[in-house]
Amino acid sequence: MMTVQPAHRISEVKEYYFSKKLREIDEMRQQGVQVINLGIGNPDRPPHTKVLEELNKTSSEKGNHGYQSYIGIPELRNAFSQWYLQYFNIELDANKEILPLMGSKEGIMHISMAFLNKGDQVLIPNPGYPTYASVSNLVEAEMITYDLEEELNWQPDFNKLEKLDLSKVKLMWVNYPNMPTGANATLELFNKLVTFGKKHNILICNDNPYSFILNDQPLSIFRVEGAKDICIELNSLSKSHNMAGWRVGMVAANEVFIQYILRVKSNMDSGMFKPLQLAAAHALNLDKTWYDEINSEYYQRRELAWKIMDMLNCTYHKEQSGMFIWAKIPDSVESAEQLSDFILNNAHVFITPGSIFGTQGERYIRISLCSTKEVLQQSIEKIKQLPIKTKSTEQA
Ligand SMILES: Cc1ncc(COP(=O)(O)O)c(C=O)c1O
Repeated sequence: MMTVQPAHRISEVKEYYFSKKLREIDEMRQQGVQVINLGIGNPDRPPHTKVLEELNKTSSEKGNHGYQSYIGIPELRNAFSQWYLQYFNIELDANKEILPLMGSKEGIMHISMAFLNKGDQVLIPNPGYPTYASVSNLVEAEMITYDLEEELNWQPDFNKLEKLDLSKVKLMWVNYPNMPTGANATLELFNKLVTFGKKHNILICNDNPYSFILNDQPLSIFRVEGAKDICIELNSLSKSHNMAGWRVGMVAANEVFIQYILRVKSNMDSGMFKPLQLAAAHALNLDKTWYDEINSEYYQRRELAWKIMDMLNCTYHKEQSGMFIWAKIPDSVESAEQLSDFILNNAHVFITPGSIFGTQGERYIRISLCSTKEVLQQSIEKIKQLPIKTKSTEQA
């Protein structure tokens, strides 16, 4: 029997680690094991009530159910523009420099399709969000990974980058505040990135969905003068507004870059449900108390996640941003995957091994703050039962 073969482009793309792990967790649950998942960064709390009210109201209005424009409704583009002005102190032209997206993840694909030809090189952070690599594979670009090191506070080593042959590099993915390491953005870093991009004619794409989580000073790469000539920034309501399932994000760039991206996007979807866009505009108009309120919960959860890391003898920086805690495993442990599997199989708590984000994550683990304090406390109780030598038991 003849079988239809898939395209070459998918041969390099593996099943997303989490989808495999979730299947394993599901199987354990079907066998009656209660598993706690501290892996995925999927906000568990609802959006603001005003946002939900707006969705309810507008979705029962006639005339809101048809196809929508590819560039998003003006209310949403204006709200994104105002949001950038209010919180990032950046002026973006709502008509020309903002394109609403269905989450920032699709932006990674659209940008790659818009700018990369087969064989073009792309710089990808290690550790980093796995989608940069899988999308680069899908568009048949050639990946060059650049290491992020704890010693450099997980920032690129520009001396090393300058030593590479950059002649074929067209695009560089950066992500600050950084996932998975929690390293925050600095203006100094953004300055260096813009200088580097301009010097080598490399498009710098900053993926910025974590700017409001455990961080009081959201920073955009566009704070650097002249950044619009060479940079693109992605943003999202998934984490900042507890709206991950709604799929609302945006890309900001100069008018020309937006037009390139739009050429891809307008051939892939037919606009976003209007009530969802209206409600998202409402979310963007919320005042600072919204962010203070969600962060006060994350600060409390972080204390519990630190406790887990302490019990596992892991070391970590306390000033991380974003919705995860990233910590180094002790030398006595063979690998992060081995530690993660040991905790899953014996305490029935899933913690992400850093290795899924690249080789630079091999000695790290990551705990998500998207579980309630009660669930984190339960995890502490379960992990307490494990035969792990803690510093205090060693001394006793
Ligand atoms: C670094 C990073 N970029 C992008 C995304 C995608 O977010 P969105 O929901 O906006 O597509 C995630 C989600 O986990 C992420 O961690």
